[in-house]
Amino acid sequence: MNKTIFITGASSGLGKITAKLFAEKGWTVIATMRNTEKETELSQLPTVHLLQLDVSNPKQIMEVVAKAEQISPVDVLFNNAGYVLAGALEGISDEQMEQQFNTNVFGTIRLTRAFLPYFRERKAGTIITTTSLGAYIPDPFMSLYPATKAALEIWTAGMTYELDRLGITIKSIVPGFMQTNFANNAQMTLHPVYEEEMMKVLAAYSNSGPASEADNPADIAAVVYEAATDGKSQIHYFAGNDAITRYKELKLEGIDSILDTRRKLFLGE
Ligand SMILES: NC(=O)c1ccc[n+]([C@@H]2O[C@H](COP(=O)([O-])OP(=O)(O)OC[C@H]3O[C@@H](n4cnc5c(N)ncnc54)[C@H](OP(=O)(O)O)[C@@H]3O)[C@@H](O)[C@H]2O)c1
Repeated sequence: MNKTIFITGASSGLGKITAKLFAEKGWTVIATMRNTEKETELSQLPTVHLLQLDVSNPKQIMEVVAKAEQISPVDVLFNNAGYVLAGALEGISDEQMEQQFNTNVFGTIRLTRAFLPYFRERKAGTIITTTSLGAYIPDPFMSLYPATKAALEIWTAGMTYELDRLGITIKSIVPGFMQTNFANNAQMTLHPVYEEEMMKVLAAYSNSGPASEADNPADIAAVVYEAATDGKSQIHYFAGNDAITRYKELKLEGIDSILDTRRKLFLGE
């Protein structure tokens, strides 16, 4: 039978390519984004429905979940929306910090909670969340973003206790660097005390050193499809070469050695 996936952050990058992949595979896709008017590609696909959703808006979450369930009962929720807040902690305001957690963490958790009564009623449903290898190996001047993704990693694992017996599956996709507009969409903050080091980090990125092994998001979307359809109770899916390689290195070398290497790569120290 035709299945349905609900995707957040489908306006670009991994969310958009995943929407196209599931549509190609014959799924009904409810592609949500902050601004549906700008979307010209997904709107052409017959089995794709566009709905407006800012995941940091709790009221909109409740309205959109009800609307989506009317369009078609949702089999898979793909929590993918997210952005990176970069810069030294001292240069970050309360509002920026709260928005980072409201979007990446509380948006994901609230949306999942809103779908649970429907999944519970049907004794079925799969929840998949995009986290990041940053949850295991953070990079300099980006301490809050990986903290949001680490929160989602452990939240996913913790939720299995309450969902398993209800027939609901919860998983995470853990990519490393991906070739998307993610870095351009980053929110950058500056603080004079840390400016010199921050500039080194930005220079390292623009020379594409740390991101030179970035994966094609199509390869990561294929892992989302696998996680949605493999029927396994596997919780974390390290996705793409970059994440798999660096996670192996972490296991072999330990976090202290890996952080030293990252420090040299970004800051030359
Ligand atoms: N690219 C990487 O290297 C990388 C690595 C590891 C993990 N990730 C994760 O992968 C996911 C997808 O990112 P991407 O690489 O595809 O980057 P992207 O092209 O920037 O996509 C991010 C998506 O999230 C959406 N978004 C941001 N804030 C939102 C909000 N408040 N409500 C709803 N949607 C919101 C963006 O929508 P707008 O168009 O409205 O801004 C966009 O559709 C993110 O969770 C990111 O943290 C990315």
